[in-house]
Parts: sequence; C-alpha cells; structure tokens
Amino acid sequence: MLRVTKADKIEGTVRVPGDKSISHRAVMFGSLAEGKTTISGFLPGADCLSTIDCFRRMGITIEQQGDQVTVYGKGWYGLKEPDQRLDVGNSGTTIRLMTGIMATQPFHSVLEGDESIAKRPMRRVVGPLREMGAKIDGRQNGEYTPLAIRGGKLNGISYRSPVASAQVKSAILLAGLQADGTTSVEEPHLSRDHTERMLKAFGIDVRHEGSRVSVSGGQTLKGRDIFVPGDISSAAFLIAAVMMVPDSSLVIEQVGINPTRTGIIDAVQAMGGRLEIVNERLINEEPVADLHVFHSELRGTVIEGDLIPRLIDEIPVIAVMAAQANGRTVIRDAQELKVKETDRIATVASQLAKFGASVTPTEDGLVIEGGKSLVGAEIDSMGDHRIGMAMAIAGLAAEGETTIANAEAINVSFPGFAETLERITR
Ligand code: S3P
Repeated sequence: MLRVTKADKIEGTVRVPGDKSISHRAVMFGSLAEGKTTISGFLPGADCLSTIDCFRRMGITIEQQGDQVTVYGKGWYGLKEPDQRLDVGNSGTTIRLMTGIMATQPFHSVLEGDESIAKRPMRRVVGPLREMGAKIDGRQNGEYTPLAIRGGKLNGISYRSPVASAQVKSAILLAGLQADGTTSVEEPHLSRDHTERMLKAFGIDVRHEGSRVSVSGGQTLKGRDIFVPGDISSAAFLIAAVMMVPDSSLVIEQVGINPTRTGIIDAVQAMGGRLEIVNERLINEEPVADLHVFHSELRGTVIEGDLIPRLIDEIPVIAVMAAQANGRTVIRDAQELKVKETDRIATVASQLAKFGASVTPTEDGLVIEGGKSLVGAEIDSMGDHRIGMAMAIAGLAAEGETTIANAEAINVSFPGFAETLERITR
C-alpha cells in the first residue's frame, strides 16, 4: 500500500532508473554475443530481472549488482536447452523478444508468465515467426501462453506489421539474424527503435529504406559496453508531478531522449508546459539529455496518429495531467492500450474517475474534461505499474489522502519510486 498526500511543491535534481526497453535488450544481446558485455545504468526492476533469470536458465553467466551487470556471452548458439519453463513474470518485452530468439535455437523451450501475460496477445509475434518456418504452439492456436517453441531453421520474410509494435518488429528482426536471406519489417507508424540502434552497437548491419528495416541472416554479435540512460517513461511521472503541483521545478538528469520515445515531451509542450532539453549527447547510438521542467498551467490537447507509439506507455499519466488541465483532451488511435499490462483504457478511466475527474473511455482512447478539482481516493493499481504510478501523481494534486493498493507492481519498472517522490516533495 502506498500513501500519497497533496504536495505543496516539487523541487530538486534527480535521476530515474535505467530505461526498461534498453536494459532488456542489453541483457539479451549480451547473452547472444561473443564475449563479455558490461551494462551500467541497468534497470534492476522486476521485468528486467526476469530477462536475466531466463538467460541464466539457458547457461549464461550473468553477474548483477544493482545497476551494474556483466554478461558472459557465448555466441548466438551458446544457449543450452532450459530444463524448466522460462518464467517471464509480468514482462511482455521479455516474452515477445525471446519468442523470436527461441525460434532460432536448435532445442525446445516453453515461455510463460503471470496472470496478466496469460491474457496478452502473442499471435502478433507467433504468426510472422510461423511464416518464417518456426514451430510454436500455445493456447488458442498460439494466441496465449504458455508458448511451446521447437526452434530450428528459418527463412527470411518481408513482413508488413498491422500494428506499430517494437516488440513485434524486434522479435522478427532477431529471428531474421539467423534466418536464410533477408528479413524486413514495415510498420504503420514507427515504433521505438532501440533494437535497431543496439544491434548496430553490437556490430550488426541494420538497413533502413524508408519505413522498412531489414537485416541479413548469419551475422554475429560482439560483446561490448552498454550505458543505459534513465527511462523517459519513468521521468514522465515526475514531469507530470511538476506540471500538477504549483511553484515546482525539477532537473531530471541523464534521460534517454530517443525521438521514438519523446512523445511525452511533445505532448506536455503542446499542453503549454515548460520543459527544456539541456546538455544533449549521444551514448551507444542513443541520445541522452537533462530535462529542466517547470510548473505550468496546462491546457487540453489532441493526441493521435504518429504520436501514439511515441508516448504509448505515458498515456495513463497524460490522462492524469489532462484531468487538471483547462479544457478537453482527446486521445485517439490508442487501441493498443487495451492489450498492455491491463486494459489501460478501462483502468485509467475507472481509477481516475475516483478522484472526481471527468473521463470517458472510448473504443480507441479517452476523452478527459479538465479543470475539475481532484479529491484523494482509494486506488487499486490492478497489478499495473504504470496505473499505480500515474494515480500516485494524481494524489499529489488531490485534496486529502490517496492510497494505492497493490503498489508493489511499481517495482516492475521504477524501483524506489516512493522514495524518489518523498525526496522531491515539499
Ligand atoms: C516495448 C514496446 C512497447 C511498450 C513496452 C516496451 C519494448 O510495446 O509498450 O512497454 O521494449 O519493445 P509494444 O511493442 O507492444 O507496442
């Protein structure tokens, strides 16, 4: 249980934990690479620890202490057949990317996770991997876990994905690295491109032609040092806190600002929020900067189209900001929210309404009438880390006390969230 009361002010200088997407990939690629990979700034959250556990079960030595990790890769085919099911916990990224990797391995493996994972769609990766020749089975013809994978020889494909999903794109590209010929993926809107950038850092030739990204089979990864910047998706909660609490300002250091992830910055600025990007630099192909954030009166906005994949994980906390902004905010084209850790259209609407906010769920998003004063509420994270954190931020602006039940879910992506809030709240 997490308790939050109305804040007078937010201020200070902070860092947020490492980027979740980049941390997963660093462990996976390091495990498949030849030689040692060191990772600094790793996110020691539950999701990324699940990824470490899966690779350890396939014989990879991985040392982890806090945010420092060393992976002793043995090359792509250095994994051994796991003697138990691989448990991905709550992590969609782990299961979907690993399905692509396991499809190339000359052995049998079974992937499963928690109750939330058991409800999330897997055919979006299973389908194209089957087209490449992979043998994968699961409940409802491969839609749901557990996934049983008999890996082997694959053929390259040219795949047009119906969804903008980095997990789908990555699973196919990873399988493509060991398939015959070339494998390419095209998506309706560009999703986060951490896989492409990090594969390049590991020595892989990744080609881009327009919106199509492709790799050729038979390439090897070489171990290397990876620095993981702070997760902009975690920084988003602190940005929202500053926007909601008068007189606040905050410096968030060393945040990843990959353009496929900075939709939150664009949205906050479109709402009239003052946010400055300072000290920009490039580390392992990933842009990094410090964010200077200042409390601002926000106004409603429209969030749709290409912007959606660039802020998909931030929509819960954007909805919270919108509840306090002047005017209406419309979020559309975001039907992907329904298949996240929870149905986030439903969970945002049900939990935010408890604060007295006016929020209407739609088929593909939310409509929020801003400007209502918020009152403290009894919230349930529903086991979804981002719902827990978004509602805690609403609690900082709400009169009285807010309690968040099932707050331990927050450890999935932001260990130390409560302590960080405490440190910057006056
Ligand atoms: C992720 C991709 C996104 C995102 C998730 C992490 C990744 O999911 O929501 O939190 O690391 O590739 P989709 O690929 O399903 O859009």
